[in-house]
Amino acid sequence: MQNTNWIAVEDYKFPGGWTSAGMGAGNAADKDARARALCRELEAGRILFFPKLPYEFPPDEREFLLSREWNELRLHKNVSYRPTDDVMRGFSGDHGTEMHLHHIVRNYSAHVIEFLRDFLRPYAGKWKLDFASFRPFEEQGRDLSLHKRNDLLHVDAFRLRPTRGGRILRVFTNLHATKPRVWYAIGDFGWLAQKYADGAGLRRFAANNGALRRSVSRWAATLGLKRLSRTPYDRFMLRFHDYLKENDDFQRNSPKVRLEFPPGATWMVFTDGVAHAAMSGQFAMEQTLLIPPEALVAPQSAPYRILERIAAARLC
Ligand SMILES: [Fe+2]
Repeated sequence: MQNTNWIAVEDYKFPGGWTSAGMGAGNAADKDARARALCRELEAGRILFFPKLPYEFPPDEREFLLSREWNELRLHKNVSYRPTDDVMRGFSGDHGTEMHLHHIVRNYSAHVIEFLRDFLRPYAGKWKLDFASFRPFEEQGRDLSLHKRNDLLHVDAFRLRPTRGGRILRVFTNLHATKPRVWYAIGDFGWLAQKYADGAGLRRFAANNGALRRSVSRWAATLGLKRLSRTPYDRFMLRFHDYLKENDDFQRNSPKVRLEFPPGATWMVFTDGVAHAAMSGQFAMEQTLLIPPEALVAPQSAPYRILERIAAARLC
């Protein structure tokens, strides 16, 4: 199996953007080619890593986030922010703090999206913007139910936002002043699926996908009916997420790599394909984007295609 590791991106900086020789302001073709090559790496299960912020994040906003314990957020898993309608959820404290936090998270989300428009240009304009989040709590030893635990290896799947074969791209930044954010990760979805998909019931999900069911699901997707628009792929991935967290042998014995993301680092990864567990770390920001199948540069690497090959059946 292929080990996950990160690729440190050396030729993109903030401010300034692409810095490689030959990538002057007018040389869009070189930037397109470089961005396309990096999208291919991401889709194959690699993590792109930036030691320094590749987008704007005002130091006073970062200091404000680090200056408090955020105990008023403890009822929720994270603070979430939806850029499409500018709504923040998960905060229950005083109004002034809420307004300031909302301002910071809105700015963060806008700056990351602006950066991605240039950096991941093959996806720009084709993606669906999903939530951003602020994660102020120490991950080590969090008291969460088994299926919500972040420190168990899993692939991501969203209960109320089916992707219908699209991919879940997440950009993380470790805001902590001194502590790394520590992950375990497995980047080879082909290996993961070969070894565990049948045990999670892949063939049962694939069998339940006749022409009528597919047209109902397409119709539900155009009407925005989330639950009804789930494809067998979406239903399988929800099950796979839970199955992997429940599987003690997988958690203990799978050949994972340990990654330490240092303070100030940013990284991006397709978390529907790279199994990951956040073992420790505090104060992270994150922005999610959904990349539809038609925008992928290497669609044969997408989890739905890998699972379809194993099941010898359509899943979307
Ligand atoms: Fe996750």
